[in-house]
Amino acid sequence: SSFHPFLQALPKCEHHMHLEGALTPALLFQLASRNNVQLPSTDPAYTSHETLLARYSRFSSLDDFLQYYYFAFSVLIHEIDFESLAWDYFQHASKDGVLHAEVFFDPQAHLTRGVTFATILRGFTAARKRAEAELGLTSELICCFLRHLPPLESVHTFNLPEVQASFDAQEIIGVGLDSSEKDHPPSLFKEIYGPAKTRGLRLTAHAGEEGPAQYIKSALDDLAVERIDHGVRLVDDPQLLRRVQQQGTMLTVCPISNVVLRGAESVKDVPIRKFLDSGIKFSINSDDPAYFGGYILENYCQVQAAHHLSVQDWETICRNAIEGSWCPDGRKQVML
Ligand code: ADE
Ligand code: ZN
Repeated sequence: SSFHPFLQALPKCEHHMHLEGALTPALLFQLASRNNVQLPSTDPAYTSHETLLARYSRFSSLDDFLQYYYFAFSVLIHEIDFESLAWDYFQHASKDGVLHAEVFFDPQAHLTRGVTFATILRGFTAARKRAEAELGLTSELICCFLRHLPPLESVHTFNLPEVQASFDAQEIIGVGLDSSEKDHPPSLFKEIYGPAKTRGLRLTAHAGEEGPAQYIKSALDDLAVERIDHGVRLVDDPQLLRRVQQQGTMLTVCPISNVVLRGAESVKDVPIRKFLDSGIKFSINSDDPAYFGGYILENYCQVQAAHHLSVQDWETICRNAIEGSWCPDGRKQVML
C-alpha cells in the first residue's frame, strides 16, 4: 500500500522474536540435508518445503504450532547452523528498518538433544557481531525458559555454570518465559526470576497470549517482570489495564502471530487502538516470522491496514519501543 515506504523507514526496535522462529522451511530442508537429519515420513507436511509452508498456514492453536516449532530444532546441530539462522533473521530485520533487536532463544530444547550451550551461544553471538558490523543493527539475547517443563528443570538450566558465565559476560541480557501457556502460570517460575533480578538481569515473560489476564498479574506480582510478551488478554481486566498503564509496563504485541494461532480472528481484533487510547506502551513484533508469514514490517503494514493509525500514532509506537528497549541510553538517543 502507499504506507509501505513510510512504515519501512520508521526506526524500529523488535522485542519479541524467537530466533528459532526464524527457521524457514527452506532453511530447515537445507540443514536437514547438510546434517543428515531424517524428517518424519509419517507427516505428509514434510514432503517438501512447499508442503511444510502450506501446513504452517493452518495452525489450530499455540500447541499445534509448538509441535512443528520444536520438531524443527532437530536440524540445528552445529555452531554454524545457529549462526546461519540468526544471520538470516538479522538481514530480514535490517531490510525492514529494524535498528535494534532483543531476541529470544530456548536453550532447554537444544540441551536435551545434546547440543551444548556453548555451541548455541557462539553461533548466535557470531551473527550478532556481524549484524552490528555490517548492518549497524544492535541486538541483545534473552534466555527463555520453557513453561511446559517441570520448573525445577528450568532452575537447573539457569544454574548451569556455562549459563551463569554467559550472564556474567553480558552475552545474555535477561530471561524470558515461553512455550505452552495454559495451566503453566508464571508463579511456578519464581525460583528463577528472584535470583535473576538479584543478579541484575532484565526480566520479561509471555503472558496473556492464550492464558488469562490473571497470568499477566502473576508475571507482574510473582516475577517482577519489566515487560509482558503479548499481554493482549489485558483487555479482559480493566483494573489491571489501568495498573499496567500507570506502571508504564511495556507489552510486546505480535499481531500476525495472534491471528495465525487463533487468539484473534483478525488483526482488527488485536486491541491496538484500545492500547493507544488507554496510554498503554507497546511494541509491534513478529514472534516467529518463518512460521507466521511475516517479519516485523508485514506486522506494521497489517496493523496499518486494519487500524488506520495516524503518523503521530506511529511516532508514539516507535518512540515507546526505543525507550522500552534494554540498550544503553546513548544508543536510544541515536535511534530517537
Ligand atoms: N515459543 C515460540 N513462539 C511462542 C509463542 N508465540 N508463545 C509461546 N511460546 C513460544
Ligand atoms: Zn513469543
